[in-house]
Amino acid sequence: MTAYVPAERPTLYFIGVTTTRSSIMKVFPAWAELLQLGEVAIKGIDFPPGAPAEEYREAVRFIKRDPLSLGALVTTHKIDLFNACRDLFDVIDPVAGLLGETSCLATHQGRLHCYAKDPISSGLTLARFLPPQAFAARPPALIFGAGGACIAISQYLMQPERGANRPASLIVSDRSASRLSELKRLHQQFDASFPVSYQHIDSTRQSDALLAGLPEGALVINATGMGKDLPGSPIGDEACFPQRAIVWELNYRGELTFLQQAQAQQASRQLQVEDGWDYFIHGWTQVIAEVFELPADAVAGDAFNALSDCALRVTRQGATS
Ligand SMILES: NC(=O)c1ccc[n+]([C@@H]2O[C@H](COP(=O)([O-])OP(=O)(O)OC[C@H]3O[C@@H](n4cnc5c(N)ncnc54)[C@H](OP(=O)(O)O)[C@@H]3O)[C@@H](O)[C@H]2O)c1
Repeated sequence: MTAYVPAERPTLYFIGVTTTRSSIMKVFPAWAELLQLGEVAIKGIDFPPGAPAEEYREAVRFIKRDPLSLGALVTTHKIDLFNACRDLFDVIDPVAGLLGETSCLATHQGRLHCYAKDPISSGLTLARFLPPQAFAARPPALIFGAGGACIAISQYLMQPERGANRPASLIVSDRSASRLSELKRLHQQFDASFPVSYQHIDSTRQSDALLAGLPEGALVINATGMGKDLPGSPIGDEACFPQRAIVWELNYRGELTFLQQAQAQQASRQLQVEDGWDYFIHGWTQVIAEVFELPADAVAGDAFNALSDCALRVTRQGATS
């Protein structure tokens, strides 16, 4: 059992695996100053992936009861923590209930809320870089990797309020059949208005073929973690992106092989190539806004740019990850 010590000042927790190595530990104090949050703190809580349910419950019970522990950002353990602690949450945001996961805990008026912020943060990131007419010619989207990020991004793309601003179809590939079946089960609840094709693949050659089958202007996303969490890229060096494709690598650090493969064809194929920096900033700032009860404009527009510049400065000053 971990001995949790009551917080001495308003505290945000970061529940992950190796949280002390994350650059957010240096970025957060700089952001706290910029956002005028006062004397606040960030603390990491590390669990190995798939930790016992009682360990998640202990952490969540502590945050719920400790007056100065205001909330948490959750990575890696989003689904396991949600399942282990469901009865401890006073309020479950509908998207968290739908996706069966939580990336954000926040106490508001003594009640513990849980939220799934990933569809919001991935959506804000896409909205920032997608041209207004990105889907006007009804191109498809292709997502390599059917994990948590793919669930969030596809949920965003399927939202009915997007009207015609949606891809004509979606192709998702994964090397795990169970991930694809789980995604399909969730998609049936999202009420997608476009067809989805679930491709079980086990080779780079098959990924290359999926890419080769795309028309001009398609949205192509690497959500496999390859190039950061795993070496390499889902596609081979010979793979060809479609003309004028919009290519998004979800990570911003690591060897980023997929990003480099896209950049190598950027000029010849007129690609728009994006990395995961803005996604990282939106992911954190959405949770900070929720936990510290900031108005939406505190982390949007010019404020978002200032937070991003500040994080860049701090990370360049020598943070390790
Ligand atoms: N910038 C940001 O703030 C941000 C935010 C969210 C996510 N991300 C990044 O996005 C990546 C994905 O995140 P996630 O949470 O969705 O991870 P995840 O849940 O682990 O999903 C990745 C999926 O891709 C599959 N995969 C691995 N290699 C593949 C290949 N060659 N072809 C097709 N599928 C393959 C994995 O299968 P196995 O399970 O068999 O390995 C897994 O199902 C991570 O690297 C994460 O760091 C970045």
